[in-house]
Amino acid sequence: MKHQKSLIAAIGLALVSPASAWAAGGPAADAATPLPRIETRNGRHALIVDGAPFFMLGAQANNAVNYPAYLDTIWPVLDRIHANTLEVPVAWQQIEPVEGQFDFSYLGTLLDQARQHDKRLVLLWFGTWKNTNYSYTPDWVKLDNRRFPRMKRKDGEDHQVLSAHGANTLASDKRAFVKLMEYIRAHDARNTVIMVQVENETGSYRLPRDHGAEAERLFALPIPTALARATGRTGTWSQAFGAQADRYFNTWYTASYVNEIARAGKAIKPLPMYVNAALAGPSNLPDPDGVASGGPQQDVIDVWKAAAPAIDLAAPDIYDGKSDNVLFYMDKYNRPDNALMVPEIGNSVLFGRYFYPALGRGAIGFSPFGMDLSGYMNYPLGAKELDDKTLGAFALPYSMLAPMMRDWAKLAVSRSTWGGAKPDDGKPISTTMGNWTISGDWGEWQFGMKEWTFFKADPTPAADKPVGGFAVMQLSDDEFLLIGDHVRVNFAPAAGSPGKGIMLRAEEGRMVDGKWVMTRIWNGDQTDYGLNLTDRPQVLKVTMGHYR
Ligand code: DGJ
Repeated sequence: MKHQKSLIAAIGLALVSPASAWAAGGPAADAATPLPRIETRNGRHALIVDGAPFFMLGAQANNAVNYPAYLDTIWPVLDRIHANTLEVPVAWQQIEPVEGQFDFSYLGTLLDQARQHDKRLVLLWFGTWKNTNYSYTPDWVKLDNRRFPRMKRKDGEDHQVLSAHGANTLASDKRAFVKLMEYIRAHDARNTVIMVQVENETGSYRLPRDHGAEAERLFALPIPTALARATGRTGTWSQAFGAQADRYFNTWYTASYVNEIARAGKAIKPLPMYVNAALAGPSNLPDPDGVASGGPQQDVIDVWKAAAPAIDLAAPDIYDGKSDNVLFYMDKYNRPDNALMVPEIGNSVLFGRYFYPALGRGAIGFSPFGMDLSGYMNYPLGAKELDDKTLGAFALPYSMLAPMMRDWAKLAVSRSTWGGAKPDDGKPISTTMGNWTISGDWGEWQFGMKEWTFFKADPTPAADKPVGGFAVMQLSDDEFLLIGDHVRVNFAPAAGSPGKGIMLRAEEGRMVDGKWVMTRIWNGDQTDYGLNLTDRPQVLKVTMGHYR
């Protein structure tokens, strides 16, 4: 059976994507590859896959697509947007419907199909918490409140979230997760699975912490030493954290619980593991009753770091499309001790442009949510429908990076990168890299200037739309790699830079195995009014210079 599957996978690889470097030049079906890992150097992070830096051009499937019959709704969407990785749930309820009896048939099909379609996988473990809820636990967990206790309110009533102090719940969730990792270790030597998300949006809404007997006992104690060290606070939870005490308490114990699951899973196969956050608003002191208390929101990342060393990173689920907020969240999760990864972002057109600031910040991956044709749409969080225009908002930036994904990821380990998206107010954006200021403006045609009054021009198709962005990488003092869409990019000498700076050359081309291959030089109309990136994939190498 195993052989048959491998054979099908091998045939599939040959038929489906003969051009893919990974399929063609990569390992044979059962050959072991180096373990994926996250590497951090000088505060910059890289996801290492098959021994080399990798950028996850991701797409997350809808929640209930984790069944063989629905997998074929996924692949056309991933192919259309040039995604290289599928994030997809594995539910506790489906692998252990009867306590102690495990069924991994879905995993087998998933691995086979992912390989046939030349995609990597990020598995999302839906266990004790799924958007805080226990909906993905097996029936035997849901129905046994004594063994697997729900949180208690102050009045003793149940709250519909499992308690982070439930020792049996932790033991059972851990056992199922370990079985999952054992299955992956046994069936995925080639590391189709590159990362695992442990639980999904942990925490509890409208009840910041459990008030059961064990929780009350722990809450009266001084805070743990490791937490005191990480936060510089001392005393009891109330003394240390005041109005946020309940939340910090639940965060510590939730993170410790998740850590125990990840630690046990990594003992089987140490894949990178991460947690995702149901974000609080951008305030630095979220309302403990409104937020998913216990989850890895931006203000409690330090708590998660101290309590959950087995978790490689905490990641933001971004559904708030306001441009300032999106950048705020990216900056909060982009830390020397935390690689930025966007495991979920809305899938409507407006979110596509945020690929560029994520890439520019050195993210290791990006993934719109709900990317399949199963018929479910999470509007108004995301798109109303996955029509071609919507898919195009992700396909366009992805298609520029996809052919040079390995080169970009490798260079990004040591080169500066920067990216921006059209802000909601439509104002120009800019950055300075070395001696050069690089700016982006919106709503320009390729010829002329929008402020000209002597020519009458219609507004550009994207003029009033939340569309447009670009990312640059500094290859050397005076050379830059540039991708973008719906933006006019200008390079100019930075204030105080020596000599008289000019743009020498803008070459269109592509990266091939780390080398730039030029197709043509942009000149004349193509550069007289800046570098105008429109609705087609184009990669430019810009060379600046000084004259005397
Ligand atoms: C965030 C969760 O992590 C996803 O699983 C999903 O429920 C979305 N919210 C909403 O569609």
